[in-house]
Amino acid sequence: MSIPSPATPPDLYGRTRPDRFLSSLDRFASWYIPLATRKGARRPRTRDDRPRELTVAARREVADDVVSLRLTAADGRMLPRWQPGAHLDLRLPSGRLRQYSLCGDPADRHAYRIAVRLLPDGDGGSAEVHAELTEGRRVGVAGPRNAFPFAGDDRVLLLAGGIGITPVLPMAYEAARRGLDFTLVHTGRTRASLPFADEVGRLARRRTGRVVVRTDDEHGVPDAAGLLSLAPEGAAVYACGPAPMLDALQRAFPASGASALHFERFSAAPVVDGKPFTLRLRDGRELAVPADRSALDVLRDAEPATPYSCRQGFCGVCRVRVLAGSVEHRDRRLTDARRTAGDMLVCVSRAQEGACLELDV
Ligand code: FES
Repeated sequence: MSIPSPATPPDLYGRTRPDRFLSSLDRFASWYIPLATRKGARRPRTRDDRPRELTVAARREVADDVVSLRLTAADGRMLPRWQPGAHLDLRLPSGRLRQYSLCGDPADRHAYRIAVRLLPDGDGGSAEVHAELTEGRRVGVAGPRNAFPFAGDDRVLLLAGGIGITPVLPMAYEAARRGLDFTLVHTGRTRASLPFADEVGRLARRRTGRVVVRTDDEHGVPDAAGLLSLAPEGAAVYACGPAPMLDALQRAFPASGASALHFERFSAAPVVDGKPFTLRLRDGRELAVPADRSALDVLRDAEPATPYSCRQGFCGVCRVRVLAGSVEHRDRRLTDARRTAGDMLVCVSRAQEGACLELDV
């Protein structure tokens, strides 16, 4: 996450200059986590973890530096069901595991659609998708799984920042199909940067809900309170976009008339209430984890090949075995049995201040 200069207040996207948008996006991985401020929402689930191979049946440029991929089974069989907000795990040719929101039509049982923005200074996942996943290539997948479920509330505000339209678009289709009172807002730098602008435009013409497209070059950078003011009274808000946008929405939400805020991050959330602790590796090296960094980040400094994916405690890829020490578990993945057995997800979990965790690494 970029740290804004104290002399230059950040805009909604955390930029101190407009051309920093892409460099800010580079820090966003492709994985998300929902934070819901309302309890008790209905939680539709989709889950099918069986790995399978799919084929890139079609590939299309849907905005500047954004490609969408249509993935189908080689034998044409139907694919597991999914619901808006679900994502797919992709095993890229390099072995990287990455997750992408499903952004197609849940009623299409023969294909999944994802979209990926190229992040030139990212961790290589998006570049690999753009370079390698051409039509006809096969790719391993697992899922879909849903970490950002759409509860189908009667009144809904759907907010998408740029590529954040991917989980939100199926929600809009679902809201339109159900006849919900919904508003969809798609924001970005320019029209050319907005993925699926054609589909959003068709949705607007159907007049089943309100659709607002606002770009920085035409309308100026929006502020969070202004975006939330577009919510129908008492609406639930579903948002996906750059971290500064989500942070701003979270700050502005209590003063809004919305009833709930659900959002999905592109990147790891900042460490909250972290205390410094130490990791000890099998070879005796001791690594200091400061209060504001994750154990994963520190481990990757020492061992760059340390695997990870979501960086938010839900995919399980960063799991390590703890040989000694008491873990402060902060993930949403491990069962009590796995924790008792010594597993730890180092992207989010920590230890008490001054403690040392001996890892089987
Ligand atoms: S990277 Fe996904 S749980 Fe840690």
